[in-house]
Amino acid sequence: MLASTTKGLLQRFLNQRSCRREFKVAVVGASGGIGQPLSLLLKQNPLVGELSIHDMKNIKGVQADLSHICTSVQTNAYEDQELGDCLAGADVVVVPAGMPRKPGMTRDQLFEANAGVALRVACAVSESCPQALLAFVTNPINSIVPIAAELLKSKDAYDPRRLFGITTLDVVRASTFVGDFLNLNPRKVDLPVIGGHAGKTILPVFSQCCPSFQCQLEDIKRLTHRIQEAGTEVVIAKAGAGSATLSMAYAAARFVNSLLRGLNEEPDVMECAFVGYKSPCLPFFATPLVLSGKGIEKNLGLPHLDDFERESLEQMLPELEKSIQKGIAYAKENIAAKDEQEQCQKECQK
Ligand code: LMR
Repeated sequence: MLASTTKGLLQRFLNQRSCRREFKVAVVGASGGIGQPLSLLLKQNPLVGELSIHDMKNIKGVQADLSHICTSVQTNAYEDQELGDCLAGADVVVVPAGMPRKPGMTRDQLFEANAGVALRVACAVSESCPQALLAFVTNPINSIVPIAAELLKSKDAYDPRRLFGITTLDVVRASTFVGDFLNLNPRKVDLPVIGGHAGKTILPVFSQCCPSFQCQLEDIKRLTHRIQEAGTEVVIAKAGAGSATLSMAYAAARFVNSLLRGLNEEPDVMECAFVGYKSPCLPFFATPLVLSGKGIEKNLGLPHLDDFERESLEQMLPELEKSIQKGIAYAKENIAAKDEQEQCQKECQK
């Protein structure tokens, strides 16, 4: 009896000392192939107090299902026009919404289908939770993040420290493939991946691998190519049934957890992501970042590169720049068209 009372007091003391906060996380696109396993993983995260899920349809069933899991995370579901309610007061908004690739498609070929998602979600964030950290999974990441940035700028709500394209799956794949190659636990492999999230814009920096990766250049080239084409490997294997969902959900959940650890003021939280805060080379670029309560505390910039990596970087820059500019141009055009339409409606009402 005495022992259990002492244990209870000790637990309460430890809880007070740890000062762990609980945050509201919103998942937009939560009934899709990535959204469901991502929500499942977040339902188990001790830093999440409220999990607010949104999709255009079928979301109530996902919420009923999640709500039976015995964790203290409270789940709330919102459909279609209720996006603003879903996001209200969110600390982190993560967006897996959008169409996946089919075999033979590039990520850029999803632009037409998914660009509107970036505009709609960024607009809702600017109205309902302008202080939130906003992280996109939606492809093509290389254009989606610039679109969201332009929309937020137009609403005076852009803070580059708080907008992210999630590239964690590239890092996860790099650790896995190198772990397999070296016969090591992949969790013990730390390999930064920089650039963007499509084909040759994905650049694993083997020269900075920890533990150090000593092998033939041919092996590095082969592994680099596998990491760059890993998304396509899954698209082909799924044969028309979509792209990576489980590994992407794992990667996005890891990234959200790192954002939450940063918000919780844990020191030295690091992840690579595609961002526009103090980015080297181009206005948006994936680099290693230190995360904190502000979102990005510090952009660690380009890691030191060897000759092969520097050459690969030079080769990817035109393609990445084109994708960024395509996103910016689309956003400017659509924001201007919307402003004009609103002005016209006002004139008609006079
Ligand atoms: C991935 O890397 O698996 C995702 O970006 C999905 C895709 O289309 O490849």
